[in-house]
Amino acid sequence: MTKNQSASTQGLAIAIMAAGKGTRLKSKRPKVLHEVGGRPLLEHVIRAATSLVPPQRVFTIIGHEADAVAAAVQHTGVDFVMQTEQRGTGHAMQCAREALQDSEHVLVLSGDVPLIRPATLQKLVDFHLVQRAAMTILTAEPADPTGYGRIIRPKAGAASVSAIVEQKALDRKQQKVREINSGIYVFRTADLYAYIHKLSTDNAHGEYYLTDVTKLLVKAKKKVVGIKTEDPVEVLGANTLAELVMLDADMRRAKAQALLASGVTIFRPETCVIDAEVEVGADTVIEPFVQLLGKTKIGSDCRIRSYSVIKDSTLADGVQVRPGCILDEATVATGAILGPYSHLRPGSDIGEQAHVGNFVETKKTRLGKGSKANHLTYLGDAEIGDKVNVGAGTITCNYDGVNKHVTRIEDGAFIGSDSTLVAPVTVGKGAYVGAGSCITQDVPEDSLALGRAQQVVKADWAKKRREARAAKR
Ligand code: UD1
Ligand code: CA
Repeated sequence: MTKNQSASTQGLAIAIMAAGKGTRLKSKRPKVLHEVGGRPLLEHVIRAATSLVPPQRVFTIIGHEADAVAAAVQHTGVDFVMQTEQRGTGHAMQCAREALQDSEHVLVLSGDVPLIRPATLQKLVDFHLVQRAAMTILTAEPADPTGYGRIIRPKAGAASVSAIVEQKALDRKQQKVREINSGIYVFRTADLYAYIHKLSTDNAHGEYYLTDVTKLLVKAKKKVVGIKTEDPVEVLGANTLAELVMLDADMRRAKAQALLASGVTIFRPETCVIDAEVEVGADTVIEPFVQLLGKTKIGSDCRIRSYSVIKDSTLADGVQVRPGCILDEATVATGAILGPYSHLRPGSDIGEQAHVGNFVETKKTRLGKGSKANHLTYLGDAEIGDKVNVGAGTITCNYDGVNKHVTRIEDGAFIGSDSTLVAPVTVGKGAYVGAGSCITQDVPEDSLALGRAQQVVKADWAKKRREARAAKR
């Protein structure tokens, strides 16, 4: 047994229905690839599934834009089943028959119900097994049941379910039912496939509804039960963009709450966008309107000031990010200070206690311990040692129109303001570059390089000019 398998999931396979187009989103992108919490809907569902069984036992049913969907989630290791034509959820499960033949039970998930928690799925499976049911439905009672299939029980409080009725087919009395179908079920595989071929398309959408298997099983005297979630939010579906952004907000709220609980201060958390995988250490303070995205890791005792967007970056402890910084695939060591308005592009590696200031852009650049580039500078493809001072307006000319070249600035060097360093070029240890220089040749250790026109001073020139003008008038 692997670590993510409990005894109850031994004979279990999981099918995720993800072949639909998502017409109600009015989008070119397939529904299950729309994102909440910075990750496609389907990936959330797959993660929940693979926390119960190994990925080889998770079958994702794809159809609309199948290649794009498969490519997006391939890294998870799950298997795929094709539903070339999308003729309803019942038809989707008909297509999965062969893939599921070795399983005793199948947990069916919807690719557009992303907040579902593994613990809830485990509870559902356990209930199904204890009940020895043919079909077990995960149900919920959300504040607004509109749009969902409703659960019809033979009598109030019964464990058993007699039918699922879709919104469009509800009669007057059924419209009052608040218990909904989450679209998540467990079937005894043999029972599902003994009846699924009897589904018809005699309904408002002309589709094969998986929900109609309920009636078929009940008619055959098979046991169908329902179990209600405590938290209806986790089974909310994303059918429209409005629902999608609501789920996204729910997920962000939960993430912010989890960080707050772990000792991270987030002022006005409702204004911040923090992706699910982001890690932040205790005693770090996050100001309003900050975005922390992707695989970003932030240490303890940092301060991330407003309007900074940090993606796939790693910040050590005690880093200060002043307002308006943009970081992408950057690494920042302990005690460094960034911003305001610094742009750290991929491959930026900022050393301990280093400073990167206003309107400074770095790319594929290592800035050593205690070094400073505080104003209006571009550092691309540069290796900069410790305690280097890069003056205002310094530019590394790293690109010759064809290739990129490296600029090296060794420990303790001083680059005067408004210098251009034409790569490949090296400024040696402790050397000085005079302000306004265009450096095209290596500068040896401890020397001074001046690459600018010599200053000419013409005594009294201005005075004479004024006098000449006055004489003309
Ligand atoms: C479905 C249920 C409804 C339930 C709701 C919960 C049916 C008939 N209705 O409705 O009772 O309350 O989910 O969220 O099942 N899909 C396929 N192939 C298809 C059609 C759909 O794979 O041919 C996939 C979709 O990509 C989606 C999932 O199945 O991920 C559910 O389909 P959707 O059309 O969203 O069903 P709902 O109308 O939400
Ligand atoms: Ca849906």
